Amino acid sequence: MAIRNIRKEDDEILRKKSKEVEVIDDRVKELINDMIETMHKYDGVGLAAVQVGILKRIVVIDLYDEKPILKLINPVITKTKGKQEVDEGCLSFPNKYVKVIRPEEVTVEALDENGKKIKVTGTGLLAQAIAHEVDHLNGIILTDVMIPGTMEVISPEDQATPPKKK
Ligand code: NI
Repeated sequence: MAIRNIRKEDDEILRKKSKEVEVIDDRVKELINDMIETMHKYDGVGLAAVQVGILKRIVVIDLYDEKPILKLINPVITKTKGKQEVDEGCLSFPNKYVKVIRPEEVTVEALDENGKKIKVTGTGLLAQAIAHEVDHLNGIILTDVMIPGTMEVISPEDQATPPKKK
């Protein structure tokens, strides 16, 4: 396990489309473990592989709600329902927060780290996190989806409890 370097907002790689994972080998499993460690280190609720410089369609999500950490390989959003206006951050945009419109409910199909097909439906924060991370896999970043003019820069010292980032 290792903490990986998080690519930040101006890094060109964040604009690239990630590629499907064809074989879930030990390198992919190591990457997933490193992504989880890196996400936790920086208090994120989600992380996409591209954010650590790897153009593979892999995301991890942990809402710190006692549920298992979601590990999604080749995720595809198959259904969305409703809308929610939410505050959103991103580990690639430290200390910046924007408002975005996300679906209220998202269904995603993916493979888990054992290559087993999984289907997850999330509402609220989970729906938001899935939508945000799948955007990353398509080279879409926070500034593309934010409601114009809503970006706020908040220094960590100003926050009693900093909002979690994706
Ligand atoms: Ni992000």
